[in-house]
Amino acid sequence: MSDAVGTAAAVKVLGICGSLRKGSYNAAALRAAQELAPDGLTIETFDIAPIPIYNEDVRAEGLPPAVEQFRERIRAADALLFVTPEYNYSVPGVLKNAIDWASRPPEQPFAGKPVAIMGATPSVLGTARAQYHLRQILVFLDMHPINKPEVMIAAASGKFDAAGRLTDETTRDFVRQLLTALRDWTRRLTAK
Ligand SMILES: Cc1cc2nc3c(=O)[nH]c(=O)nc-3n(C[C@H](O)[C@H](O)[C@H](O)COP(=O)(O)O)c2cc1C
Repeated sequence: MSDAVGTAAAVKVLGICGSLRKGSYNAAALRAAQELAPDGLTIETFDIAPIPIYNEDVRAEGLPPAVEQFRERIRAADALLFVTPEYNYSVPGVLKNAIDWASRPPEQPFAGKPVAIMGATPSVLGTARAQYHLRQILVFLDMHPINKPEVMIAAASGKFDAAGRLTDETTRDFVRQLLTALRDWTRRLTAK
């Protein structure tokens, strides 16, 4: 693929949303990221809804199919993008649960992957506390998070229209900047 930074292959990103809600602002933000992806970066998504609640006894009998699929999709991606709400000042249980499943040995698939984080909330702090908790988890899993820009979408009800389209131009710019940084960071780390 030809683009502004040369003829390198496109960076393949797997986008993961931390909300299962149909009208989710975070799902809408992930769709916006797909729409705003810069040249040289593409985003596919993985739905974590079918992943069961973690149980070590179940794991001992073999990974559930949804977990196997999640691990394969992570492995196949050049980079990850987490888009998550904040629940009680932290990462929603469904997202932590999916990460916990995928993280189990052998060969946990997160190691070495570049990663970016975004989040949206109707409230005022833009998911900052959840993002810092998530960042800590991702660093433990040996991922390489983008530092800046931080895309923390506060007061989300005024930034998406009724159809779930991100309409706030400043936020759209931040999303573009984050994805450009993710593309360039991935290329630096993988020489892609
Ligand atoms: C259990 C629970 C805890 C929540 N805690 C927070 C919180 O700590 N901070 C915050 O900004 N919003 C909090 N919220 C409100 C969410 O930001 C809001 O429900 C948001 O719309 C969820 O994201 P979604 O639209 O992508 O589903 C909480 C919501 C739930 C259901």
